[in-house]
Amino acid sequence: MLVAIPDVLTPEQVAAGRAALEAAAWVDGRVTAGHQGAHVKRNRQLPQDSAAGREVGELILRALSENALFMSAALPLHVLAPTFNRYGVGETFGNHVDGAMRFLPNGQRMRTDLSCTLFFSDPEDYDGGELVIEDVFGPRSVKLPAGHMILYPSTSVHRVTPVTRGERIGSFFWLQSMIRDNTRRALLFDMDVATQRLGAENPTHASVVQLTGVYHNLLRLWGEV
Ligand code: NI
Repeated sequence: MLVAIPDVLTPEQVAAGRAALEAAAWVDGRVTAGHQGAHVKRNRQLPQDSAAGREVGELILRALSENALFMSAALPLHVLAPTFNRYGVGETFGNHVDGAMRFLPNGQRMRTDLSCTLFFSDPEDYDGGELVIEDVFGPRSVKLPAGHMILYPSTSVHRVTPVTRGERIGSFFWLQSMIRDNTRRALLFDMDVATQRLGAENPTHASVVQLTGVYHNLLRLWGEV
């Protein structure tokens, strides 16, 4: 399941964040690529200790914690601090699968269930640079407005096609969901959306309470905390 989360950041937040990111010191993206990624990764990224990266990353996490669509679609348990990458003309990241395990700041391992890409460049600012995700229905090409984010299963093969004009700046990070299985998580998301729609249209309908109960009982049955 691919879920686009619109307007995670306001245009003002994107502009301020982008200015801070552009002024920061970038390094070769291969420093964090595993042996699988190193030979297909041609981009730049911000070092983990970058002050600008930390500041904009915290802004993103704050915005996401108040975003109902993100919460419902991801059911996050652990969210890793956002990192940032930058693709100029000729830069690309070929087909790869993201590593399954990452470390939280406290040294605890977390599993990467969902990958997130938040766009800091508008589609008109660059050509190429599409995020292509191999879905069960075939390849899906994603290029969203600045401030929007795509959420996709970390199990998927994906790539960023070469940029042929301009520059693409984005944030990428991972999360562990309370619901490990993509199918179960998609079912819960569908159910949440449908129940909320019913509740908005007919707040006193008895099925609203019943469906909300089923949702929470499935979450209790399947959720890991
Ligand atoms: Ni990746």
